Amino acid sequence: MKPPPRAFLFAHPAKHSLSPAMHNAALEALCIDAQYVARDVPPAELAAALAGLRTSNAWGANLSIPHKEAVIPLLDSLSPEAKAIGAVNTIVAKNGWLTGYNTDALGFMRSLEQADLHVRGTDVVVLGAGGAARAVAYGLRQAGAKVAIWNRNPDRAYALAEELGLEAFLSDTLLPNAVRSASGLVNTTSVGLEQPDLSPIDDDLLPINWVCDIVYRPLETRLLRVARQAGIVTVDGLGMLVHQGALAFEAWTGQPPDTKLMRAAALEQL
Ligand code: ATR
Repeated sequence: MKPPPRAFLFAHPAKHSLSPAMHNAALEALCIDAQYVARDVPPAELAAALAGLRTSNAWGANLSIPHKEAVIPLLDSLSPEAKAIGAVNTIVAKNGWLTGYNTDALGFMRSLEQADLHVRGTDVVVLGAGGAARAVAYGLRQAGAKVAIWNRNPDRAYALAEELGLEAFLSDTLLPNAVRSASGLVNTTSVGLEQPDLSPIDDDLLPINWVCDIVYRPLETRLLRVARQAGIVTVDGLGMLVHQGALAFEAWTGQPPDTKLMRAAALEQL
């Protein structure tokens, strides 16, 4: 008898991941006999991990730091989103063929929709120009937002704005006015991660309607706390994590999972 199918997380490190709790709760609720397993895969072992996906009955894998970009040349095909974003967070394995998807962008957009935020035609400022910023900016553009980007290292922000065709690149001087006149603000930098006293921007700099911080440790970062106290809508980073996971789950199983249950399972681990 074949063992039950598995889906993996390949990351380095992998031990603090919330994904196993989230996915296994959703599998159990749907009575699907399968398992989600986190594997610590150092960069030198990524190719071997993918070879394992080709030859087993695994559904596929999620990828996290540091594999999202490095995995691309090892795959057989890419979805249009993964190609445009230049990063893969989900692999679907079928008959030895590996397709790379990016569910971060749509997962992020779903987290905004869940807070009843609709961005078409509105101005949004994105802080950061790393891998997470690429997915967030792409998702916002696809949804019709006008995106302006700022980064500590301006060259990276400029390059990303050019590549994704964003509305504006913001220097340090332009940032304050751009934030104050924007509808929304997204932090994709790592500032605030396990640093509850730090914010990526000055406390008095807030947009008009909403703020999202994709950092979810702590769940309420300083940026989100200041925004909440000012009466602005806040969206925490667990939303993007849950929804990117739910989209991967659906790609593997063909069934939409209970995202409330996934969030509760993730919260319990935090
Ligand atoms: P990820 O894939 O999670 O986006 P990354 O590619 O390493 O990770 O990007 C991290 C982002 O956080 C970058 O935008 C980085 O800015 P730089 O490009 O200038 O390095 C930003 N970042 C990290 N530490 C920061 C700090 N102390 N202040 C401002 N930005 C910071």
